[in-house]
Amino acid sequence: MDRAFKMAIVGFGGMGNWHRELVETIDGLSVKGVFDIAKDRMDFAASLGLVAYESLEAVLADEEIDFVLCATPNDVHKEVVIRTLSAGKSVVCEKPATMSSKDFEEMMAAQGTSKLFVHQNRRWDEDYLTVRNILDQKLLGPVFKVESRVHGSRGIPGDWRGTLEHGGGMVLDWGVHLLDQVLQMFPGKIKTVYTTLTHVTNEIVDDGFTVNLQFENGPLVVVEVGTSNFINLPRWYVLGRDGSAVIKDWDLSGEVVCITNWDKNDAVPVKTAAGLTKTMAPRTEDTIKTVELPVVHSDIRDHYKNVMDTIAGKTEQLIKNEEVLRVLRLMECMFESAAKNQVVDFE
Ligand SMILES: NC(=O)c1ccc[n+]([C@@H]2O[C@H](COP(=O)([O-])OP(=O)(O)OC[C@H]3O[C@@H](n4cnc5c(N)ncnc54)[C@H](O)[C@@H]3O)[C@@H](O)[C@H]2O)c1
Repeated sequence: MDRAFKMAIVGFGGMGNWHRELVETIDGLSVKGVFDIAKDRMDFAASLGLVAYESLEAVLADEEIDFVLCATPNDVHKEVVIRTLSAGKSVVCEKPATMSSKDFEEMMAAQGTSKLFVHQNRRWDEDYLTVRNILDQKLLGPVFKVESRVHGSRGIPGDWRGTLEHGGGMVLDWGVHLLDQVLQMFPGKIKTVYTTLTHVTNEIVDDGFTVNLQFENGPLVVVEVGTSNFINLPRWYVLGRDGSAVIKDWDLSGEVVCITNWDKNDAVPVKTAAGLTKTMAPRTEDTIKTVELPVVHSDIRDHYKNVMDTIAGKTEQLIKNEEVLRVLRLMECMFESAAKNQVVDFE
């Protein structure tokens, strides 16, 4: 029989508890206990029958714990990760892994036989996997532009996410997911980066951003996060020479429209209030086809299965730390571009 793993959660807030609930559905893995600096979270852990450790040292001293999940605010990740790795235990760290690429290099260097895993869970998002499937199947011909967006209308949450010292702001919070997805989709070199940040509801940290990433031998990718959008633009909009795809939301509504007949180019001109256009007239139905999104389903539990199999020496780590480092460097390049209001060379 496969060995059973026990983990401890350090930082038992919203996401720490999300992990606890997920782990309850995973065979061969259980949460033994929790450490949090907030008394109410420790009381909650005890009410669930979990061990409420009095300190991080107490967690690390427990020989039954195979690995630690770090789900504290972002500025605490580095310390928890380095102390855990130094104690000879592996660690799963929430995103963003930390607040600078230099800090992450130190975290990577602290690994010995124990391993550092970063929870880039949105690699399992079904909208993202569906876009990858559209690209893999070459449904759109050569792709020249991709737009990836998440929009909300609640501003920056009123917690640590609104502060610089705890690693707040939307580049670090959501950007890290969307950029990681884009770099997985297009592994080639990024030539230039141009970023604008917004401060609509918060002067201290960015409450949204737009970045244009120009790939060397690939598309222009626009990544955008907004927190003052009362009308949302689509989650994904992908343009190729032979078709377009849209995924409107996380519910996977959307479609792919492809050309079937380039030669038939008749158009009935559209009269607008003040003019006439043939160029922008809609295509006739006999020259295009609409196909359903080739939806891909996923199981986020595969992340923890990979963590356990990697620790057991049975497989390779899925989320490579070099990939995490590249995303952190890209975010630093974005802040530089925004501060200078200039296009910046990246690679
Ligand atoms: N991967 C995802 O989809 C996802 C989603 C949400 C949050 N996150 C990440 O998870 C982490 C936590 O976010 P959250 O929304 O749960 O925040 P939260 O504020 O709800 O929880 C953080 C918890 O950490 C505790 N804490 C603070 N300092 C600590 C310390 N030194 N030692 C132990 N505990 C400490 C706090 O008391 C709190 O209970 C962040 O890094 C965030 O970016 C990831």
